[in-house]
Amino acid sequence: MIDPQSVEEAAAILLSGRVCAFPTETVYGLGADATNSDAVLAIYETKGRPRFNPLIVHCANLDMAENLAEFSPLARQLAKAWPGPLTLVLPQRAGNKISDIVTAGLDTIAIRIPDHPLALELIRTAGRPLAAPSANPSGRLSPTNAYQVRIGFGGRVPVLDGGPCQAGVESTILKVDGDKVVQLRAGALAREEAERLLGRRIEAAEHDAAIAAPGMLASHYAPEATLRLNAEAPFADEAYLAFGPAPSTDRPMLNLSPTARLHEAARNLFAMLHELDGSGVKRIAVAPIPEEGLGEAINDRLQRAAAPRN
Ligand code: TXA
Ligand code: MG
Repeated sequence: MIDPQSVEEAAAILLSGRVCAFPTETVYGLGADATNSDAVLAIYETKGRPRFNPLIVHCANLDMAENLAEFSPLARQLAKAWPGPLTLVLPQRAGNKISDIVTAGLDTIAIRIPDHPLALELIRTAGRPLAAPSANPSGRLSPTNAYQVRIGFGGRVPVLDGGPCQAGVESTILKVDGDKVVQLRAGALAREEAERLLGRRIEAAEHDAAIAAPGMLASHYAPEATLRLNAEAPFADEAYLAFGPAPSTDRPMLNLSPTARLHEAARNLFAMLHELDGSGVKRIAVAPIPEEGLGEAINDRLQRAAAPRN
């Protein structure tokens, strides 16, 4: 597959109804024209993604977003985080041009404006909202660089290369429903930051709200190796993923953040899991991560990666 060498080339691929991977500040997305059902179907086929799991629509600006969804005053308040790693699930605006396949037939739509210059330029150049899930085969780790996208899809997907992603975990998903706001997925915008924008607390959705964010399957983000969480040190047959001061060991080891910074750990999380996984180890022990700020998203991804496979 020949990769696009410019935003114009990537936009041309998308407008011809094909998929193209592109960088965002969170992870790489597998993009398609959200108004073209055949193009969107190609996303599901390429990823092996269940058809009932809806996609996030990426917009270049608030005007584009307001054509697709109804923004209440609460939603507008939260949209101040844009461009940024926040996805809002909102009521769809009647008559928008988004394919029903994107929303899996729901009457809501998930939208975000990514904070990445290439992503924004791509959406503007294509002149269409772009549907894009993370650019990994369904159930595998999300890619935070172009190389992982190429490996993940065996070179069958063109990739607009924008270097490594800054945030490293997917966007936070908030559903705005009347005067209720619930967090459907912890992500790269810390819940505390969204609460500051809103001036009030935001609850995490109950577990069975997995139905509200159908992609939140327990076993997701799976590496090949098995994971053991909250491990202070590795056993003799394990590699170790450290956080902060590391134990002394002769086992293979990577450190998410030697200085125990959660932003750095989020940025390194998938890349280091990919790297340890690719080295062929069968078991990875992971250090405890504090459950505050971005720690909520990191622990969520680790728990899914450690969950029994189905
Ligand atoms: O950071 C991100 O969000 C990345 C980049 C590429 O933008 N995208 C991403 O997409 O993580 P994906 O498909 O891996 O996750 C989207 C999640 C899924 O869990 C899906 O079920 C949920 O969003 N979702 C989409 N539309 C929804 C809706 N109308 N209501 C509830 N959940 C929805
Ligand atoms: Mg994903």
